[in-house]
Parts: sequence; C-alpha cells; structure tokens
Amino acid sequence: MRSETTLVLGATGKTGRRVAARLRLHGVQVRAASRSSRTRFDWADPAGWDQVLKDVNTAYIVPPSVPGPVHDFVARAEAAGVQRLVLLSGHGADTWGDTTFGLDMRSAEEAVRGSSLEWTVLRPSNFNQNFDEDLFHAPLVAGELALPAGPVPEPFIDLEDVADVAALVLTEPERHAGKTYELTGPRAVTFGEAVELISKASGLPITFKEISSTEYSAALVREGWEQHVADHVVEMFVVMGRGTIAATTDGVATVLGRAPRTFEEFVVRAAGAGAWQR
Ligand SMILES: NC(=O)c1ccc[n+]([C@@H]2O[C@H](COP(=O)([O-])OP(=O)(O)OC[C@H]3O[C@@H](n4cnc5c(N)ncnc54)[C@H](OP(=O)(O)O)[C@@H]3O)[C@@H](O)[C@H]2O)c1
Repeated sequence: MRSETTLVLGATGKTGRRVAARLRLHGVQVRAASRSSRTRFDWADPAGWDQVLKDVNTAYIVPPSVPGPVHDFVARAEAAGVQRLVLLSGHGADTWGDTTFGLDMRSAEEAVRGSSLEWTVLRPSNFNQNFDEDLFHAPLVAGELALPAGPVPEPFIDLEDVADVAALVLTEPERHAGKTYELTGPRAVTFGEAVELISKASGLPITFKEISSTEYSAALVREGWEQHVADHVVEMFVVMGRGTIAATTDGVATVLGRAPRTFEEFVVRAAGAGAWQR
C-alpha cells in the first residue's frame, strides 16, 4: 500500500510552515523539509533528494532562487512514485516578458508542467507578510519605507489565504489537476497607501518615499542583502511598475468559495501583535 505522505519544501519559510500546519491539523502525514529542518533538504545537494522523496505521494514545492534544479527534482519525484506536485510560483508569471525577474519561478513552472505527474501551479501576488516578516519589515520599524514604486497599485495577498489554497489543493487534488491559479487579494493598494494604513493602525509615525531603482538597489545592499537579491527585487518593481499585474483575480474565491482577506485585516492583525513596534 502506498503511503500518503505529503512533502512540504521550504517548510521553515513563510508559506511552507503555514501549509504544513494546516495539513497536520487535517490529519495529513507531513514531511517538512528544508536545510534547517529535521528532514534535511537542500536544492544544492541532489544526493539527499531520493531519501526525502521516499514514500511521498504529494509534494508542495517552494522553488530555489536559481533556475534549473526543479527539472532534476521532478525527474527524481517521477522515479520515486510521487503522484502530484503543487508549485508556488508568482502572479502573472507568463507576462513577465524579457526581464530577468522570476527566471527561478518560470523555470520551476516549466519543469512541473512538463512532468508526467498531476500538477497545480499557484501564482500569488506580493505577500502582505512582506511588510511584517520579510523585506519591508526593517525599514517600517525604522520609520520609513522607500521603494521604486509610484502610483501603480499591487493586489497584495495574505499568506493565510495562500496557505488555505495550497492546503486545499494538496488534499483535494482531483479538482485541481492541470490548473494554474492566479491568487490576489480583494483590492489593489499602492505602496504609499499600504504604509499609511500600517502607520494608522500601529499609531506609529511611518512614512513612504518613492526613490529610483539605483537608490533602492544601493539601500538593499547597505541593509545587508546580496547584490543579486537586490537586482532581483529591483526587477520585480520594474515588472510591477508596468501595471500588467496590478488587477485583482478571482483565484482565491474559485478555490476556497470565499473572498480573500483584505489588506486592512492583515494590518490590524499585525499591528495588534506589535509587528512594527520599535
Ligand atoms: N514574497 C512575495 O511576495 C512572493 C510573491 C509571490 C511568489 N513568491 C515566491 O515565493 C517563494 C518563497 O516562498 P516563501 O516566502 O514561503 O519562502 P521564504 O519565507 O523566503 O523561505 C524560504 C524557505 O526555503 C528554504 N530554503 C532556502 N534555501 C534553500 C535551499 N538551498 N534548499 C532547500 N531549502 C531552502 C528555507 O529554509 P532553510 O533556510 O531551512 O533551508 C525556507 O524554508 C519564492 O519562490 C518567491 O519567488 C514570493
């Protein structure tokens, strides 16, 4: 009899840990893996992959930040008898065009779509939680978020919704095979408005400033990010600035049968938890 183990990659990360928690609560046997997890998985060390894939039925893939490895991983998954894959990609991945942004996610999509397994691709927009758990958090705590972003809004999505969608797709695979879900929040918000809402709810004087791509790249490097990460993030703002991925979608409602959480709900929750206190 085949095991029903679900492998969750990126299991210590923002989506992986939320997805793993939902699956466990649902009674699914979860193998949570990453470089620092008890089940060690490293995209740079294929020698360890077969052991991680043993007896796995379904895998949630958070791709590596470089293009390529997911092709080999998918081949190993096929050989190991895995039946289905759910990939985390990004909103509008097929519209990013000739930019270098998202080559990692686009390569991973190609690998998953080209596999003989059942697959589903999740394409979320920018996460709300970038403001309290990731890149934008430290500048907000310091009192000013300066970005190469102007009037084009972003339909930020809450990671609790991304994880709800991923958990459902992982546990009800027959409905979602071969589907690509564009996942956004219910309303697009400019970065200026996002910061205003955070400042209001937290009661802290936090401001937004528009700066150039060059200034932002230099600031990221000063904050300690590697140059290639800075380049990637700058390219993301170039793509967002075109306005081609600014619209909301009905992806969350299609999968979950309910509206996505609002940015305001996120801000109130995070401010209540003291996310931006100095
Ligand atoms: N941020 C956004 O707004 C946004 C929007 C759309 C799509 N995405 C995509 O979402 C993905 C990131 O997902 P996330 O936010 O859940 O992740 P995350 O919070 O950035 O965490 C990354 C996870 O990957 C693991 N990891 C890092 N390097 C690894 C390696 N070499 N081998 C194996 N595991 C490794 C980390 O754990 P260890 O350190 O323990 O290995 C961690 O569990 C990216 O592909 C990104 O492009 C992001």
